Amino acid sequence: MERRSWAEPYRVKVVEPLKMTTRAEREQAIAEAGYNTFLLRSDDVYIDLLTDSGTAAMSDRQWAALMVGDEAYAGSRSYYRLEETVRAVYGYEELVPTHQGRGAEHLLSQILISPGDVVPGNMYFTTTRFHQEYAGGQFTDVIIDEAHEPDSLHPFKGNIDLDKLAAVIDAHGAERIPYVSFETNVNMAGGQPASMANIRAVHQLCQRHGIPVMLDATRALENAWFIQQREEGFADWSIAAILREICDHSEGATVSSKKDNLVNIGGFLALRDPELARRARALLVAFEGLQTYGGMAGRDMEALATGIEEMVATDDHVGARVGQVEYLGDLLLKAGVPIVRPVGGHGVFLDARRICAHLPQEHFPAQALAAAIYVDSGVRGMERGIVSAGRDPETGDHKRPRLELVRLTLPRRVYTQAHLDVTAESIASVAAEAERIGGLELVYEPPELRFFQARFQPLAA
Ligand code: F0G
Repeated sequence: MERRSWAEPYRVKVVEPLKMTTRAEREQAIAEAGYNTFLLRSDDVYIDLLTDSGTAAMSDRQWAALMVGDEAYAGSRSYYRLEETVRAVYGYEELVPTHQGRGAEHLLSQILISPGDVVPGNMYFTTTRFHQEYAGGQFTDVIIDEAHEPDSLHPFKGNIDLDKLAAVIDAHGAERIPYVSFETNVNMAGGQPASMANIRAVHQLCQRHGIPVMLDATRALENAWFIQQREEGFADWSIAAILREICDHSEGATVSSKKDNLVNIGGFLALRDPELARRARALLVAFEGLQTYGGMAGRDMEALATGIEEMVATDDHVGARVGQVEYLGDLLLKAGVPIVRPVGGHGVFLDARRICAHLPQEHFPAQALAAAIYVDSGVRGMERGIVSAGRDPETGDHKRPRLELVRLTLPRRVYTQAHLDVTAESIASVAAEAERIGGLELVYEPPELRFFQARFQPLAA
């Protein structure tokens, strides 16, 4: 059949000029940033693929919605609109608005986890695991083994391994497991989805033991896309219906609205149980804000409600979003650059372990590769390897994740195909001469979530 290209279901109305820098300027900027791309000034970045979080371009309707935000301290009309929208799209009755995803994770962990509890989850996300441990819980990974293999072509590498989960329940007892933390389109695994069959099976197993399933539904939309494309029986379902079916197999969800929901700030905890929601709201007023705004301005809630509507209004939106990520992934594969496969939903993940095979993991190959790419072209990616994994609280040693990756995350509706061509050309040329990349050593390391603020210097040759 003749191949037809897809294209974006929108056009550009406003542009933001970018600064072009020289290689010498970038060498200086990365040294000043302690070889940590989080510490670069965005003015020194050309194509910013650090994150897809809070970096989306809002639509004209979202910008217009800002003007009608109701900034009442209590009972804001914008809150009620958001509540209705979350009920309609995600299907949870109880909305607890927060300033962003980690605010929701904080509340959920505090109301459900007691010291000594065990929280099974599919791989981990940095802030999610932080809040589980901060509440006294112990995170335990129950993702399928294929998720740790960059080359495994398993279509649903985000799946929970039911045997691993059953073994955790056997070992600790259901009463020590406050909930199963189920992330959709697993970020740290490379943006990899869970199948509907797995989501249903996990929920059934948990129901038998009286354990709630709490989704991290931050990228559930992208997960829904992969189910529609890859899972038998879903080709005719709308994205909206699949998203709803995912949520129907859980008791609640935390959402960072800075991703799927197409806004620059915001998030929420959504629940079915009114009693649980009452306990979350009691903490909400101390840590975030009143129950009808949480951590958001009225205008933020308006833009968010519109963003949630837009993300499911047509299947073309998510198709173009994931299509763009696949486009970049295909360019890199054609250039022979090792990446995590299948290409995920929100970004392309470079396999730094293979690209920088000459560097041992304690010389921070992914951190060094991210810095080298920035110096080459001003493209900013992020380390997702040993630095992000942090230290073992018991032994104080680095945790050594099998995946040592550089993440190139695509903001939604922001960059053009030509930006992606430039990105792929730069990475292909850096990877072709990767043996020139030297290792790094830590010079400053904060105790928590170290990857955000750690500083490095080149190892003496
Ligand atoms: N859950 C997942 C799966 C995430 O990817 C993030 C954030 C959060 C929760 C926390 O949400 O940032 O709104 O507080 N991920 C960003 C990223 C930071 O770059 O991947 P937040």
